[in-house]
Amino acid sequence: MKHLNSKDFQFYAIILVFALAVGLITGNMNKGSQGTAAAPAAAPAETVTADTSAGVKTAKVAETGTGVQIVKAEDYAETFPLQYTSYMQNDENSEVVEYTEQNPYIKTLYEGYGFAISYGSARGHTYVITDLSATGRPHKLANCYTCKTSSFTAEVLNEGDSAYAMAFDDFTGKIEDAFGCFHCHANGVGDGSITVTHPYLTNAVAGDFESIDAANLSCGQCHSEYYFDPATKATTFAYVGLANMTPDLMLEYENKLVDGEGNMFADWVDEDTGVRKLKVQHPEFETFLNEGSPHGGPNAVMSFTCADCHMPQKTAEDGTQYTSHYWVSPLSDQNLLDNTCAKCHKDLAGEVAAIQKETTDRENQLGEALAQLDTDLAAAIAEGKIEGQDLEDIRMLFRNAQWFWDFVYVENSEGVHNMQLTAHCLDKAEEYINQANAMLK
Ligand code: HEC
Ligand code: HEC
Ligand code: HEC
Ligand code: HEC
Repeated sequence: MKHLNSKDFQFYAIILVFALAVGLITGNMNKGSQGTAAAPAAAPAETVTADTSAGVKTAKVAETGTGVQIVKAEDYAETFPLQYTSYMQNDENSEVVEYTEQNPYIKTLYEGYGFAISYGSARGHTYVITDLSATGRPHKLANCYTCKTSSFTAEVLNEGDSAYAMAFDDFTGKIEDAFGCFHCHANGVGDGSITVTHPYLTNAVAGDFESIDAANLSCGQCHSEYYFDPATKATTFAYVGLANMTPDLMLEYENKLVDGEGNMFADWVDEDTGVRKLKVQHPEFETFLNEGSPHGGPNAVMSFTCADCHMPQKTAEDGTQYTSHYWVSPLSDQNLLDNTCAKCHKDLAGEVAAIQKETTDRENQLGEALAQLDTDLAAAIAEGKIEGQDLEDIRMLFRNAQWFWDFVYVENSEGVHNMQLTAHCLDKAEEYINQANAMLK
């Protein structure tokens, strides 16, 4: 909690007193299993409005077109041994779940797209290049490297958007550094200050840049929803300004995009049903910073950054304090749980497990329902039972339903970053599925 200043502590004290008063600590915190009820068990707004501007560290923005050279991660092994060693520890986070096997309905929902062939769960940062090469998914353009190697980040800073449209294989030989320190610190690792090196994020948050903590921005460079611009192939976000960052407005934005042939933008088109589909990608940044998130939203109970929970402070043998660069679950850091979280969460692991179970169950139920809709719609089309405007309307309902479902499916916290938003997305998906089913009857 090293970001907290005295103002935060005052606020913290108020929250604690209040929490005691409403009995939060005496058991209500375990309401994880009611995740869909959503509204954070907080207080009247005037009591719990976090002063989110307090203690916000501002990030720098990397310069472009300047002949950027990168200092490789391994070159810091001697100067910053603690951070480097913890960074190398990411190798230990090696387990992968193959989603196409775990959830067979995935093959139907992503049919015709790479993720139906191979869709491994995320693991440690040091695996990014291995995992990218190992997927059975085809890669055409170098834009796939956006979140995988700082060599590509430097290429974009030097060459601008044209780098995104390079052939994938033409860039492969230029990789010198995989998941580098450069992504978050540029070459200014020394003081640990953060530099945003991925320009599309700076463009997307626009005027809100300074209100977002540097640590949140550092992760938002990759743990966010993006699309490849149909004309330039550049990695781009579907919003400008935080007010436009909701799943609803982002969908509206992507629904208005048009591709080179004048069609509504799609990541791919499902062959059996003609649905023009969108693939959502790991929207942790958008989920965590949106309204409803107890520790990240505009009315957060108490603000933490991604780093507060995923990069806890550690003490080396000689007593030196440093920030862990082993990015894992906060539940794996007993020190953090005992010293920072236990004041309000008596059983965080239990709460997290309950929310994740509820989220996953509903996600699977709706995933199956979408797959069934795919089968029914394909049959109805084949039999000539549905056509014209009705068909177009159902396709649109399907596209929207899958978007909202995917916004939760691919968000790596499985509901815990923002239970309210998770419930909202799953409700919307269900609503669209029901409407489509009603039309098919
Ligand atoms: C000042 C009290 C307070 C502190 C300290 C605190 N939390 Fe929370 N946290 C809350 C409240 C209140 C909620 C909302 C609970 C609800 O809606 O049921 C919440 C919700 C959460 C959630 C969403 C899921 C859930 O369990 O309800 C997570 C995850 C979470 N906190 C993690 C943490 C972590 C990790 C820490 C320590 C780094 C921490 N919290 C520290 C008060 C606190
Ligand atoms: C994904 C982003 C990210 C990457 C990649 C990254 N860091 Fe950091 N680093 C941070 C954040 C965030 C902090 C500061 C935490 C805070 O202030 O909340 C930090 C802090 C530091 C500090 C300041 C001292 C400390 O421990 O707090 C040093 C030194 C540092 N990092 C070195 C490195 C090195 C060396 C690498 C590569 C091996 C690296 N970082 C890669 C995000 C990153
Ligand atoms: C340059 C892009 C990039 C940045 C910046 C980045 N990540 Fe990641 N992160 C990834 C990718 C890609 C993966 C998945 C790697 C794989 O599976 O091969 C990942 C995986 C993870 C995982 C492991 C997930 C799992 O299921 O085991 C955690 C935790 C994580 N990131 C947290 C963070 C946090 C916190 C930050 C900011 C301090 C951050 N990341 C910044 C790209 C990034
Ligand atoms: C209040 C604490 C908290 C904050 C702040 C927070 N997270 Fe998380 N995050 C969690 C918890 C709890 C989980 C679930 C961990 C588990 O399943 O063990 C999680 C899961 C994840 C995962 C999946 C990790 C895994 O091992 O499966 C990623 C990736 C991630 N968070 C990234 C982020 C990013 C990026 C941010 C900032 C935009 C962020 N988190 C902010 C608490 C937090």
